[in-house]
Amino acid sequence: MSTTSSSLPGGTWTLGDLTVTRFGYGAMRLTGPGVWGPPADRDEALAVLRETRNLGITHIDTADVYGPRVANELIREALHPYPGSLLVATKVGAVRDEQGGWPPAREPDQLRQQVDDNLKGLGVDRLDLVYLRLGNAEGPQPGSIARAFETLVELQQQGLIRHLGVSNATAEQVAEAQSIAPIVAVQNMYNLVYRHDDELIDRLAAENIAYVPFFPLGGFTPLQAEALSAVAKRLNTTPISVALAWLLQRSPNILLIPGTSSVKHLRENVTGAGLSLGDEDIAELEKIGRQG
Ligand SMILES: NC(=O)c1ccc[n+]([C@@H]2O[C@H](COP(=O)([O-])OP(=O)(O)OC[C@H]3O[C@@H](n4cnc5c(N)ncnc54)[C@H](OP(=O)(O)O)[C@@H]3O)[C@@H](O)[C@H]2O)c1
Repeated sequence: MSTTSSSLPGGTWTLGDLTVTRFGYGAMRLTGPGVWGPPADRDEALAVLRETRNLGITHIDTADVYGPRVANELIREALHPYPGSLLVATKVGAVRDEQGGWPPAREPDQLRQQVDDNLKGLGVDRLDLVYLRLGNAEGPQPGSIARAFETLVELQQQGLIRHLGVSNATAEQVAEAQSIAPIVAVQNMYNLVYRHDDELIDRLAAENIAYVPFFPLGGFTPLQAEALSAVAKRLNTTPISVALAWLLQRSPNILLIPGTSSVKHLRENVTGAGLSLGDEDIAELEKIGRQG
């Protein structure tokens, strides 16, 4: 098993040749409303990123499309030159349109351009981890990913990408990517209420591949469930803490990337994720997934 000790809840996980803290940070919330434009409070956004470093977090998730460019530029301003221990993961496969939409952009030349944009925005010669983002806003969509994934493999062979992953992918697309080249992580929507990937998580755990849930707190619709509130009340904590702790306890290959624009929330989340859920709590929380 790839977990070892760390002062952050959940310890660490090794992605390829890079060991990261299982408690990571998702940078999408550092932008303006609708993931567009600059943040309302730029100093606070930079302070959040610097606090990730102070807390010992070594996994940050971003994308050039956040802003666009805004999240990557803030990361660069706050943390460059990056410590060798920090893994910054990014995504390609979509762009932003004038309405703020996220149309797919997975032609080879579009992917090359997006990799270049991420390299420039983050100020690096090689990206640590690049996910091919698939599907659309409705979720994963079936279909072959070979042409797009092979383009990223070429860029990896050219030395521009260290490790590959897929995001918003069906289980079949994960398997197709694996048949082409090794992947170290899958990033899909998953949380206490939305549990479509239970089987996939277990398969990836057996193969030592990380599963990185996006919207761990429900994203734009905060998680709500009676059992979640009841367990939080019994443990004298918040539903957010329970939701994060549950993910860490769900499977050792789950890496957290909760998003926040607030230093206070970031600290609360680190503390909350360290909560220890007992068998009774887990059994009660499992009922949510079965109903959802
Ligand atoms: N691959 C993909 O297609 C994809 C899609 C979406 C997201 N992502 C990635 O996944 C990451 C996580 O998703 P997300 O940030 O959208 O959603 P999330 O982590 O589920 O939830 C973030 C929301 O929770 C709030 N929050 C966080 N901590 C809180 C606290 N302690 N108390 C109260 N509210 C709190 C944040 O508000 P505050 O800012 O006020 O704290 C924000 O509104 C993103 O940052 C991004 O890196 C990937």
